Amino acid sequence: MSGAVSYSDGHTHKHLSPPKASGIHRIGRHAIHHGDCLATLEGIPSKSVDVVVTSPPYNINLSYNSYEDNKTELEYLNWMENLFQCIERVLKDDGSFFLNISGSSRQPWLPFLITSRLKEFFSLQNHIVWVKSIAVDRETSGHFKPISGARFTHHNHEHIFHLTKKGDVKLDRLSIGVPFADKSNIGRFGHKADLRCRGNTWFIPYRTVNSKKKKFSHPGTFPYELPLWCIFLHGKENPVVLDPFVGTGTTLVAAEFSGGRGIGIEIDDTYIKTAVNRLETATMTSQTIILNHIEMSELLIQNPDTKKDGGFQSLLVSLQERLNKTTGAITLEDTDLERIAKYAFDYKNGGWEDRLKSIFQRTLGPKLGR
Ligand SMILES: C[S@@+](CC[C@H](N)C(=O)[O-])C[C@H]1O[C@@H](n2cnc3c(N)ncnc32)[C@H](O)[C@@H]1O
Repeated sequence: MSGAVSYSDGHTHKHLSPPKASGIHRIGRHAIHHGDCLATLEGIPSKSVDVVVTSPPYNINLSYNSYEDNKTELEYLNWMENLFQCIERVLKDDGSFFLNISGSSRQPWLPFLITSRLKEFFSLQNHIVWVKSIAVDRETSGHFKPISGARFTHHNHEHIFHLTKKGDVKLDRLSIGVPFADKSNIGRFGHKADLRCRGNTWFIPYRTVNSKKKKFSHPGTFPYELPLWCIFLHGKENPVVLDPFVGTGTTLVAAEFSGGRGIGIEIDDTYIKTAVNRLETATMTSQTIILNHIEMSELLIQNPDTKKDGGFQSLLVSLQERLNKTTGAITLEDTDLERIAKYAFDYKNGGWEDRLKSIFQRTLGPKLGR
């Protein structure tokens, strides 16, 4: 088969000789497809996906296990264009597509050439810069990847293009918001919480590791906060989240923690095994919940009186103590789950306890069928 391919719902795309998709792993609410992304996407219904977060191979000759990251520029751009067309078809009209991409010293034009191919299918609603490492005054944070030669500066950032069909998708900016530096702004401008939009530079440090295993023996993973923040920013409850280049499964772990349903596609057998393992661990530890920034501030703002109500109030204190304020993660124990069922899901008296109930409903509800 060659040339444009037509599908039953009227869509077409241009790829040549599509390879067959093969194999599917189902873990909890999620599916990981072992196969080629273009072929697998054909089986995904039109307008069925809320959020796409992905980082394709950058065509910079990275040493993946089996994929050869060295197409000609034209081949690569045509391949990406086919992918964008497929994503446009499966994305809901109010969906968000977050594309993480970077160039290299040898391929400096790549991200900009890609945007010219994206323009045919999407509006560029936001351009986010992912800061992986930074120097502020004389202090550095994050990993400064070694660079050869004297012509180039270190590469400290990558792009995240936020693409939507018409550029009009409403976001939940405060779900990844940050506290105001000047608290007088809160009352003066009538804000409901001590939170403001974090803006379009996201500092998510790329950690220095001393063994490849710590990055799942994969040369190009992103930290899981990246897909998590994208999913939260899009702001839909229990979203369908797609990553057509899922690698070690990072996006699906974020989908699990944010109450979403993940669909991942990966061509390499070894990475599939890692993704399945990571997702099994994430779904088994249903005890780990991730709060968004509004939920974190709601949890921390409460001043519990443990003498007044041993059960609910002491649950609140222990959650406050165990909250990881950087990632929003709280790891729960079995006894917490019992207490949450008793005091949170079945609580009927209203008040601030209701807000905690809504946190548990969002984070644990889909896992516990509540
Ligand atoms: C940049 S990596 C994604 C890493 C991922 N974000 C993570 O955190 O693990 C790109 C992945 O795309 C996979 N890949 C390459 N060609 C593919 C294709 N045609 N279909 C599906 N996956 C493919 C590679 O094996 C690689 O794991």
